[in-house]
Amino acid sequence: MLSKSIFYETSAYPKEHQQLKELREATIEKYQVWSAMSLPVDEAQFLSLLVKIMNAKKTMEIGVFTGYSLLTTALALPEDARILAIDPDKEAYEFGLPYLKKAGVEHKINFVPSDAISYLNGLVNSVGGTIGYDNTLWYGSVAQAEEEVTDEHIRSYRNFVFEFNDFVAADPRVESSIISIGDGITLCRRLY
Ligand SMILES: C[S@@+](CC[C@H](N)C(=O)[O-])C[C@H]1O[C@@H](n2cnc3c(N)ncnc32)[C@H](O)[C@@H]1O
Repeated sequence: MLSKSIFYETSAYPKEHQQLKELREATIEKYQVWSAMSLPVDEAQFLSLLVKIMNAKKTMEIGVFTGYSLLTTALALPEDARILAIDPDKEAYEFGLPYLKKAGVEHKINFVPSDAISYLNGLVNSVGGTIGYDNTLWYGSVAQAEEEVTDEHIRSYRNFVFEFNDFVAADPRVESSIISIGDGITLCRRLY
């Protein structure tokens, strides 16, 4: 079986933008094991295609970390597009900021150092379009029996992911699909 890293090297990394590559490598060096929070390269390429196919002009990024998915989106959007990016972790955003600047896309981004739930509460009725929720396969653990999930971190959040996936599946306001790329991304199209 092809290992994950060989798959990335041959099928995803060759098309990775130089600033994304530099940001990914710097994030791994600084954040070590926590760098796994960054969007994987293959999923980022899917997201970039999606943004372009949709002709998106306004996007929101909830949970920025050092900005791998933010930079991916910013590169995919046209010049006049705008991104509202929200994360209480300003330090991680500022770590990634030089790469956004070097890529020439900083002007598209409005970063708000806040908890998104309180910030978005007032906006929620005017939010439409398509929503992508990341990590909905939670390292594949949602398809495993509980006793097979040995990693404590994965195990401790698994029930929240189940709860979230059940909520989306039953939500009449959206049409949704779980895409098994990266850690799983659920795409939702708002119906009303
Ligand atoms: C998995 S990381 C995001 C990875 C990022 N999309 C990337 O590609 O690098 C999750 C981020 O969500 C942020 N976060 C957690 N709770 C949040 C909240 N309530 N509102 C906004 N951001 C939040 C964390 O600070 C963390 O930086």
